[in-house]
Amino acid sequence: MPKLTFIEKDGNHLEVDAPKGLSVMEVSHKHGVDIEGACGGCLSCATCHVIVKPDWFEKVGEPSEDEEDMLDLAYDLEKTSRLGCQILITDELDGLVVALPGAPKEW
Ligand code: FES
Repeated sequence: MPKLTFIEKDGNHLEVDAPKGLSVMEVSHKHGVDIEGACGGCLSCATCHVIVKPDWFEKVGEPSEDEEDMLDLAYDLEKTSRLGCQILITDELDGLVVALPGAPKEW
């Protein structure tokens, strides 16, 4: 099963199992990671914002225009910001690392 690492606000690196087909936001909820996801994944909030580790960004891909509009509302926006509900886990993303907004990013 693919693995996904969250860098939490306190700097903790949490590696979890990430079932294929689930979104990064859904995986975070399964493991009690502090990502809200207020709209349930329908691209109408920005509370599932995560910052993708830069060397993963090409594999994860650019946000759509609609996603970019929502990201403009997000806190701690970075060049590799994405909405967690829009990244679906695949085998290619095994090992992906994302940081929560406000987390220390040492990468
Ligand atoms: Fe609302 Fe992702 S959960 S945009």
